Amino acid sequence: MSIQTVRGFRDILPEEAAKWQVAEEVARNTLHLFGFKEVRNPILEKTELFVRSIGETTDIVEKEMYSFVDKGGENLTLRPEATASMARMFIQYSLYHRPTSNKLFTIGPMFRRERPQKGRYRQFWQINAEMFGFAHPAADAEIIFALITILERLKTPTFELHLNSLGCKKCRLRFKEDLKNFLKNYYNALCPDCQRRQRINPLRIFDCKVKECQNILKNAPIIVEYLCEDCKKHFEKVKFYLSLLNVQFILNPRLVRGLDYYTRTTFEIILPEIGAQNAVAGGGRYDDLVEELGGKHTPAIGFAIGLDRLLPYVPNLTKKRRPLFLALLGEEGIKIGLLWANVLRERNIVVEIDYRFGSLKSQLNRANHLDANWSIIIGEDEIKRGKAILRNMDTKEQINISVYPEKGLEQLLEWIKK
Ligand code: HAM
Repeated sequence: MSIQTVRGFRDILPEEAAKWQVAEEVARNTLHLFGFKEVRNPILEKTELFVRSIGETTDIVEKEMYSFVDKGGENLTLRPEATASMARMFIQYSLYHRPTSNKLFTIGPMFRRERPQKGRYRQFWQINAEMFGFAHPAADAEIIFALITILERLKTPTFELHLNSLGCKKCRLRFKEDLKNFLKNYYNALCPDCQRRQRINPLRIFDCKVKECQNILKNAPIIVEYLCEDCKKHFEKVKFYLSLLNVQFILNPRLVRGLDYYTRTTFEIILPEIGAQNAVAGGGRYDDLVEELGGKHTPAIGFAIGLDRLLPYVPNLTKKRRPLFLALLGEEGIKIGLLWANVLRERNIVVEIDYRFGSLKSQLNRANHLDANWSIIIGEDEIKRGKAILRNMDTKEQINISVYPEKGLEQLLEWIKK
């Protein structure tokens, strides 16, 4: 059998790719409005970066990373997400001192070796935005608003913003202790993974998909009841600013997100009507991460939109550009046609040629398949008379124009205008 893509990986074919381009453009333009600048990060990072940021006992690090030892003996990983790389970059280039470089975004593929299913791939694309250096809750509201603006501009169907606060290290210490004790009572009923989580990182039990574990969690303590005064105030302010901006949200006290670096505000965008993989975006604050990775204390917040998951549910906003088709007959026709193509493209007109140069009928057939709105027929007989034929492919009307591009183009533009 011929070689196929690796399981969980896929190709994006032209019709779909056009939709992606528009979505990326909408996201770019929107993020620019909010003052974000685009960056590009490497796809490969040192494994340690993800272990230290996402957390050793998260599903991503434990089970899902594409990690390998390269020929130089280094432990490397295909990035499973972009936040860690952004934080690494922020520290590496001392971006603290550049006022124009603290609101950053990147668009690119991420890799997680999850079980493939609809909406879940092993290579998937994210639009990832991060804001460094702002601790104020207004920043939380702004970045959530940027995310929602992108989704609205993409004409996303009904979506929900789920919101929670995970507090700071202090709040979480007490919470984890109580959660651990609560889970102890159900230890035997927990799945083997969760039994281990109960001991080492009880918060991660919220990531478990096993029904029995989820049932147990229904009565578990919730983090918002453990928030310290500062974290409580911060959360109240975030909610206040979101309401001010007319953003509706659903408080979800069990939203802990699958990564260990989060502090305070966390959020997810859910499309309630699409079934299992319904989180199309997620994010939150990570005020300690830059410092934990060796940088200066820098509060930060960000989000990532999952393009593979979102795009099937948004309309195709692509503006289709119909080409002009050059039907070229004989060597002379080809020569003049190539010159025509240049002149037309200089005018930003999309030009198509069927390089098989079959009969006129087959070339015009091709023009129809390509949905050309105009064709210029350049054949040897026409050239002798200094003429080419301009054909409106919709009405089938034809006129003669000069075969010489400069003069012919003027006539063509005039006719198109009419
Ligand atoms: P995340 O929730 O792991 O967060 O991923 C963000 C989004 O990426 C998800 O909501 C989903 O739409 C998409 N996604 C995740 N895994 C897959 C997959 N296997 N197949 C298809 N789509 C997927 C993060 O990655 C954080 N770095 C977000 C963030 C940025 N937090 C702060 N800044």
